[in-house]
Amino acid sequence: MAETMKGLHRSHRCAELGTANIGETVTVMGWVQKSRNKGGIIFVDLRDRSGILQLIFEEADCGGDNFAKAEKLRSEFVVAATGKVEARSGAVNENLATGGIEVRVAEVRVLSEAQTPPFPIEADSKTKEELRLKYRFLDLRRPDIQSKLMLRSQVATKVRAVLAEEGFLEIETPILIKSTPEGARDYLVPSRVHQGKFYALPQSPQLFKQLLMCSGYDRYFQIAKCFRDEDLRADRQPEFTQIDMEMSFVDVDDVIAVNERLIQKVFKDAIGLDVPLPIPRMTWQEAMDRYGSDKPDTRFGMELVDVSKAVEGCGFGVFTGALENGGSVRGINAKGQGQMPRKKIDALVEFAKGFGAKGLAYAAIQPDGSVKSSFAKFMTEEQMKALTEAMDAQPGDLLLFAADKNKVVWDVLGNLRLEIARNLELFDKNQFRFLWVTEFPLLEWSEEQGRYVAMHHPFTMPMEEDLDKLDSDPGAVRAKAYDIVLNGTELGGGSVRIFQADVQEKMFEVLGFTKEQAQERFGFLLDAFQYGVPPHAGLAYGFDRLMMLMTGADSIREVIAFPKVKDASDLMTNAPDVVDPVQLEELGIGITADE
Ligand code: AMO
Ligand code: AMP
Repeated sequence: MAETMKGLHRSHRCAELGTANIGETVTVMGWVQKSRNKGGIIFVDLRDRSGILQLIFEEADCGGDNFAKAEKLRSEFVVAATGKVEARSGAVNENLATGGIEVRVAEVRVLSEAQTPPFPIEADSKTKEELRLKYRFLDLRRPDIQSKLMLRSQVATKVRAVLAEEGFLEIETPILIKSTPEGARDYLVPSRVHQGKFYALPQSPQLFKQLLMCSGYDRYFQIAKCFRDEDLRADRQPEFTQIDMEMSFVDVDDVIAVNERLIQKVFKDAIGLDVPLPIPRMTWQEAMDRYGSDKPDTRFGMELVDVSKAVEGCGFGVFTGALENGGSVRGINAKGQGQMPRKKIDALVEFAKGFGAKGLAYAAIQPDGSVKSSFAKFMTEEQMKALTEAMDAQPGDLLLFAADKNKVVWDVLGNLRLEIARNLELFDKNQFRFLWVTEFPLLEWSEEQGRYVAMHHPFTMPMEEDLDKLDSDPGAVRAKAYDIVLNGTELGGGSVRIFQADVQEKMFEVLGFTKEQAQERFGFLLDAFQYGVPPHAGLAYGFDRLMMLMTGADSIREVIAFPKVKDASDLMTNAPDVVDPVQLEELGIGITADE
């Protein structure tokens, strides 16, 4: 039978004790990390979320059956121990905050026994993630995860404090809402009361925060759960958390200014990092041209170079063909990689194909200045010279070229640049490079849907100077949209919103909604716009991504207490799962999917 803690009060967390407490009688409670019986003396490492404390049991010190109880302690037993803090009798452990002391136990109680866990509870676990997630309640005991979740809590507290100082109100928005799919797929929740009808879980609080602006709340924020039924990656979960905000009577610069103060204060408080302000800004066009990405990692160079002019009229059909089709030829210069073995180059070609490249042309500049190239035979010496000069190539460099439609060329070279940088470790993992990317295109052509779709969302304001192009050349209209990028990850995004009913209607028209469809889906917003609406703008961060980058984690699963895996299931609770037929009947739902 387990004992109780009746009459005992925990006086300290384990790692709150130090040499300053020597001589005090304390009561600590926690989990047994390990226990060593040296015959007559037992050492127990006791763990709680603060860290580890050494307990020492000697038969002479502890009365009654306390020593016998200590002999039975095993890993993960939960115990309470009372005793005196002493200077450590053995060697001081420099690795532990409590390494200079130990607690000589007079009384111990076993509050709970434990089976042997399926994997050791230790930092930097070698255990496969699948097993760890199945037993997440044990995995969460590991100190590296605990420190990440504790930091997450600290950041949330700081965000609340800074935004409150800045005059923001924390307001909750509903989780059961109307389905307004535009972006990712919605998660649906069937209604029992209204059979055949469904709620959707919010992909973000977007519409509600805009309505709050219409209602005069002025500055809103929320640490909000969002749900998106999309394919998962290392930085994507089906449910995730946003730090979401909206402001009235502001434009792009105001949103950026508030957020720069927020970022600076939060990073200083959480990890002691000084973020120099202002954070650099780059237009979407420049980001694509220089980095082939709308979320460039600016910790290293190897920028894209447009060599379309230099190869115009050359003998290589792949290059000229791409130009004739309205595309471009661009390259990157992997400095000093001219001796890269053929096998590795082939691997890069395969990698490029994964991003839609039909091929990858390369030229290795030899130490003597001659060029070894996959396409030399198609070029005259002058043409090759013009090309290598355009690339600023030196002996020993490796040039890689893609020729295709701009979109493909950017994607291929942008990803190749990252791949080479990862392989060659061209960036410092401890560096934090923030960047605002601005002036995104308003619309993106969807081949799949045969229509324009909003690049950010349908409520994003076009740039004033491009308004007249909404009819004539919608693809060229830029938006008052911005992303905050950190080390090549999109940390957050937002925009100035349309606040004029006529512009909003125009936008729906360009997106291919009829008046009726727009009214049916977003009628409540259009209605609100009829009753006095302030100019407004906002932004949302992916909180999980923020914590992933702050803690240097490889995936957002490491900073979420109970994450889901790639197929969107939860390995611990086994969700999603079948439900009782009675539940389905109440909802008026029949299952047609095959088992
Ligand atoms: P957006 O869709 O860009 O904007 O989302 C904002 C930020 O949320 C994070 N994020 C995700 N994180 C984890 N898993 C996901 N599946 C996931 N999807 C997005 C990203 C992203 O930058 N309502 C707008 C914001 C606004 O305009 O104010 C919105 O949701 O870090
Ligand atoms: P080929 O004419 O098919 O022998 O190709 C000659 C070289 O051009 C090879 O190195 C191909 O990988 C490369 N190549 C083919 N298509 C492209 C492309 N779209 N962009 C860049 N290089 C290409």
